Amino acid sequence: MFELKDGREQPKEQLYASLAADLAALTAGERDLIANLANAAALLYHSLPDVNWAGFYLLRDGELVVGPFQGKPACVRIALGRGVCGTAAERRATVIVDDVHAFPGHIACDAASSSEIVVPLLKDGALLGVLDVDSPSRQRFDAADREGLERMAAILMDAA
Ligand code: SME
Repeated sequence: MFELKDGREQPKEQLYASLAADLAALTAGERDLIANLANAAALLYHSLPDVNWAGFYLLRDGELVVGPFQGKPACVRIALGRGVCGTAAERRATVIVDDVHAFPGHIACDAASSSEIVVPLLKDGALLGVLDVDSPSRQRFDAADREGLERMAAILMDAA
């Protein structure tokens, strides 16, 4: 049985170090991308404090299609360049939005979301999709989240 940590009890850096170790263990010897993304979404959603959606959009025929996630049902398809996910995918760079209501083109899937971080999934220079985490609080995500979630994306891409 997998033991989840309570992310509220420790500094972000410590929590992400522990989550990276958990994800490396969960993905060890497993190359099925969907299986690994599903466990990563569950790990993040249940361990990160103050988040209401955590999951993946995968690049399919030139657009992003929703993949494994935890949270409320989400919009299925996002064009590159659209919304926070499409912007991060097009730029191939992490995007942090402190207040989604002030982000032009933000796609509201859950009305509760106030801030968001999207990290691209890059494997050998190719874009496979994005990792998206939403929070009901403004300014929830900072440089420590960026570093921690980019590390999670790197572990997933190493396993892919
Ligand atoms: N808000 C995202 C859409 C996906 S949901 O947050 C799950 C965006 O603007 O791309």
